[in-house]
Amino acid sequence: MSGFSPEWLALREPADVAARSAKVLKSCEDYFRNHQSVAICDMGAGTGASIRAFAPLLPRAQQWTLIDHDAANLVEAKRRHPDIQTNVRDFASDPDCWAVGTNLVTTTALLDLTSRAWIDRFVAALVSKRLPVLCTLTVDDVLSVTPVQAWDDAVFDAFRAHQHSDKGFGPALGGEAAEYFETALERAGYDITADDSPWRIGRGELLRALLDGMAGAVRETGRVPAIDEWLNDAQAKTTLLVVGHRDVFAAPR
Ligand SMILES: C[S@@+](CC[C@H](N)C(=O)[O-])C[C@H]1O[C@@H](n2cnc3c(N)ncnc32)[C@H](O)[C@@H]1O
Repeated sequence: MSGFSPEWLALREPADVAARSAKVLKSCEDYFRNHQSVAICDMGAGTGASIRAFAPLLPRAQQWTLIDHDAANLVEAKRRHPDIQTNVRDFASDPDCWAVGTNLVTTTALLDLTSRAWIDRFVAALVSKRLPVLCTLTVDDVLSVTPVQAWDDAVFDAFRAHQHSDKGFGPALGGEAAEYFETALERAGYDITADDSPWRIGRGELLRALLDGMAGAVRETGRVPAIDEWLNDAQAKTTLLVVGHRDVFAAPR
């Protein structure tokens, strides 16, 4: 399992469904309640998790366009949702990539990969077209394991630092992305509904994969010499991993 492969996205999807904020989803549902139809653009769409999560909230007549630079993910999305449009595209240099007629822009688990400059351009593009936006599961800096273990603080600090490495958009905002995005939209005069949406992961395959992934990222930083020791302990003892996220629905006034 690697990067953003369909296998990894499938493993995380149930945790995403459980974590999304009911308050934020309801705010989006309420906004579209009297619309007859809606055209949605999902950015960084993967295999279409946003469709599966958001379609039940929206008017029945929906036109989805999914954008991702990973063609294999979009092939899987199209296999599962044959009626959608897909667009293989890298939007790192241009967030304004949605089709004319789009009424809603969505993302899941994307914003923390992006940079301050990219979010500035994303917000400017949304505002210029007065488009509502639903962005869920943006990682924030909350991390904890139960039971507490030696080296947790050092490991989490190194992991947070790694979240700021360039993911193709310039230096990533990582755990600061959601707050930066919410503030920018608020300044632009949008109504904001935002909430925490943490993963609470118990024992199982996802926990094992997340701990491995965290240790891999920390190893790359070279900041925690005892990382292998931490990982062995964490894999043996952890009964709960909390990874903080934020959800936001924002619409022009
Ligand atoms: C964490 S995954 C989330 C996928 C999906 N939204 C989900 O929740 O299952 C991030 C997605 O963003 C896509 N992505 C990352 N950088 C991108 C870029 N510069 N242009 C287009 N897509 C990108 C990846 O290929 C991946 O599918």
